[in-house]
Amino acid sequence: MSQMQNEMPECEHQAPAYTGPSYEQILETRKTHLTPNLQAHFKKPLVIHAGRKQWLYDHEGRRYLDMFGGIVTVSVGHCHPKVNQALSEQTAKLWHTTNIYMHPKIHEYAERLVAKFPGDLKAVCFVNSGSEANDLAMLMARLHTGNQDILTFRNAYHGMSPYTMGLTAHSTWRYPLPGVNNGILHVMNPDPYQGVWGGAACRDSPVQTTRNCNCGPNDCQAGVQYYNELEQTFKYSLPRGKVAAMFAESIQGVGGTVQYPKGYLKRAAALVRANGGLFVADEVQTGFGRTGEHFWGFQAHDYTPDIVTMAKGIGNGFPLAAVVTTKEIAASLGMALHFNTYGGNPMASAVGIAVLDVIEEEQLQRNSLEVGTYFLNCLAELQQRYELIGDVRGKGLMIGVELVSDRETRAPLAAPHVLEIWEACKDMGVLYGRGGLHGNVLRIKPPMCVNRADVKFAVDVLGRAIENSLGKQF
Ligand SMILES: Cc1ncc(COP(=O)(O)O)c(C=O)c1O
Repeated sequence: MSQMQNEMPECEHQAPAYTGPSYEQILETRKTHLTPNLQAHFKKPLVIHAGRKQWLYDHEGRRYLDMFGGIVTVSVGHCHPKVNQALSEQTAKLWHTTNIYMHPKIHEYAERLVAKFPGDLKAVCFVNSGSEANDLAMLMARLHTGNQDILTFRNAYHGMSPYTMGLTAHSTWRYPLPGVNNGILHVMNPDPYQGVWGGAACRDSPVQTTRNCNCGPNDCQAGVQYYNELEQTFKYSLPRGKVAAMFAESIQGVGGTVQYPKGYLKRAAALVRANGGLFVADEVQTGFGRTGEHFWGFQAHDYTPDIVTMAKGIGNGFPLAAVVTTKEIAASLGMALHFNTYGGNPMASAVGIAVLDVIEEEQLQRNSLEVGTYFLNCLAELQQRYELIGDVRGKGLMIGVELVSDRETRAPLAAPHVLEIWEACKDMGVLYGRGGLHGNVLRIKPPMCVNRADVKFAVDVLGRAIENSLGKQF
């Protein structure tokens, strides 16, 4: 066990001893029987068999601080007792009927969930994954508007189903098949750090880019330029006044925690509506209080979407997702029969209610703000020490650290060097995620119950991993 593992914050929970198949057997089954697309992280992949709060345990009894939350999914903490209890009480009563019968939980949950939304966003359709939610949002937007074209940002991730793969704009996540684009256009990503425009006042974050500008805090020229660029798409690439929708993550997740310039989304939404379309906020990663200041990421952009899609944190790991929209837009689904076997089943609804309860009772949104801001400030200090930290960004517990080989050109740090740092953090007991097209952004999106001691430990580990990597040949 490394020295840093001994310095880990205390945890009173004792994980049960591992009793499953051997490490070798797991590797063999994986190689022989699981599809090769299942790529495990790390040179020696981890077998994780237990979790509690912000902690994960491997088969050899090692404890890890989980800074990635099952890819931004474990919102209230691993195996939260209240969520466990809600699920176990429900499984003792009723698992499943489909919605051909009315069961109480989905109604109770729908009331609770829509109460979290402003304006006319009061109709909910439950599904099981983020891709399904975005599929449904595409379908609704096209049916409701009668238009076909949909816009997303380059660097966006909205899912991997055949329909949403077109929305996702990373070459690494797209199969070479005809029809994937299916009326979808990818517009310039308004990325104030890597994009053509950006400065020192663009972001709604405690930490700004290292780029210069003369903008005041509420006057972002980069935002205006990116908006002008978006207008060109409407002028040149779309039929006049005929767009179905534009999708935007409120902060890009898989793309590496990219934030847009302040004011951009609000203006983009107005432009889309003026052209007959709907604006869809993908809150799969940014919802449920993660960004701290607001319950939904779109609220920080000062606009109300027409459709909101959500997954991941909504169920703390239970397969649950939803689309929330207005009654009028939802009514478009009535043109044909629409059905989803599991969507909002009694177990999923019981979990969803318990997750909302825990977020409220444990004030996890406030914790995201306080601990996330502390985290961002600690990382900004680390950035002062190490040139290879090109950018620190994010809001609440939705954080990105972009590793570069050159601060001026912002070129990505060589992949082997990134991997060395990332693996070293794991060896010292901290699991970070990675993202961005080049995989050079550390993604930090832990369960929202983390505390300052965890942050201090995680930042110390990262500092040590960077320090130890310096001077090595890659
Ligand atoms: C922003 C966003 N939207 C949609 C999805 C797709 O969700 P799922 O993997 O549950 O289909 C993801 C998954 O990472 C995501 O990050």
